[in-house]
Amino acid sequence: MKLIAKTLAGLEEVLASELKALNAQKIQVLKRAVSFEGDKALMYRANLELRTALRILMPIKTCFVSNEGQLYNAVQQIDWSQYMGIKDTLAIDATTNSEFFTHSKYVALKSKDAIVDRFRREKGRRPSVDVYNPTLRINIHIFKKECTISLDASGESLHKRGYRVDSVDAPINEVLAAGLIQLSGWKKDRCFIDPMCGSGTILIEAATWACNRPPQLNRTRFGFKKWKDYDQELWEKVQEEAKAKIKPFEYGLYGFDKDFKSRRTAQHNAAAAGLEEIVSIERKPFEKLEAPEAEGVIIMNPPYDERLVKDDIEAFYTMIGDRLKQAFSGYDAWVISSNMDALKSIGLRASKKIALFNGALECKFQHYELYSGSKRK
Ligand SMILES: C[S@@+](CC[C@H](N)C(=O)[O-])C[C@H]1O[C@@H](n2cnc3c(N)ncnc32)[C@H](O)[C@@H]1O
Repeated sequence: MKLIAKTLAGLEEVLASELKALNAQKIQVLKRAVSFEGDKALMYRANLELRTALRILMPIKTCFVSNEGQLYNAVQQIDWSQYMGIKDTLAIDATTNSEFFTHSKYVALKSKDAIVDRFRREKGRRPSVDVYNPTLRINIHIFKKECTISLDASGESLHKRGYRVDSVDAPINEVLAAGLIQLSGWKKDRCFIDPMCGSGTILIEAATWACNRPPQLNRTRFGFKKWKDYDQELWEKVQEEAKAKIKPFEYGLYGFDKDFKSRRTAQHNAAAAGLEEIVSIERKPFEKLEAPEAEGVIIMNPPYDERLVKDDIEAFYTMIGDRLKQAFSGYDAWVISSNMDALKSIGLRASKKIALFNGALECKFQHYELYSGSKRK
């Protein structure tokens, strides 16, 4: 079957390589998505194991529409009773990038009318809408005139891993955190540090990646589990296969934050992820942090002075640069920030700059090689 994995802008290539590792076929990079082909087992595996996917969609129809009547007809022509009954509930997500359809909510409404009208005509009754926990989540995507109607195999977005039981201000999205780790090129051959870990998202994603733990190990709700063709035995097999790949990690996984509440929050979340034995989380300001091991990878998401306000942001980033240089030689450090002036104040030469979005904020993810003396071969 043809499938589409949606992701965040800038993570498409990372997602494509994750799909390659899962043996997906006909992988094609799209805008904020990757299309691929595979069987039902792969669809289950994609939901369980992909770290940088937001949701997995199964297209059931592609057509061309340029007005609401054509959209209504196209949706109504589908035999929806294959996928749901009148006692089931539905929800529709719509995204549009089209001069013919400018309001995605209206597209969702028209499509919902088409489905329930068909049920009413054929069965005399109609299914209800449940936007939070529907039996069937349907996705309508319109690009110019091309309309793709898909079933949402994930249901809730896959960034909801189930471990964020507690939060701080400005936490990073789990999918973005997983993307940063893979973009950093960390080979799991050295320790990992998030020195400003907040609620622990980047550290937790790093720890699950380091141990090959499927990111959705603890999640029980998936859209495909409510589908008529759900295969419990196959799902269990896919889970067992993924669990068999889990392995211990021999280097340290460290989170630090200057804030008491952040430390506690990160510890709660790490425990909810079942990682409390594997990660170390301490309260310490970066100004005083010493490198815990001789070499490693640092990924940090400092305040940008946007969602988290910070006095004298440039002096703060200068401190980050100074500390990295003084205490972390032998490390590869990566900093993500939307504050371009502040990033300049780090005062180190970035060997790589990757454009990404943290929510609506346009960011740069910058790499600093902190090798002492001559560069490592
Ligand atoms: C944008 S938040 C990080 C959010 C985190 N990535 C998450 O997912 O929850 C920035 C964090 O930097 C911490 N911080 C600010 N100044 C610090 C300093 N001097 N040393 C260590 N941590 C600091 C804050 O307490 C805050 O938790």
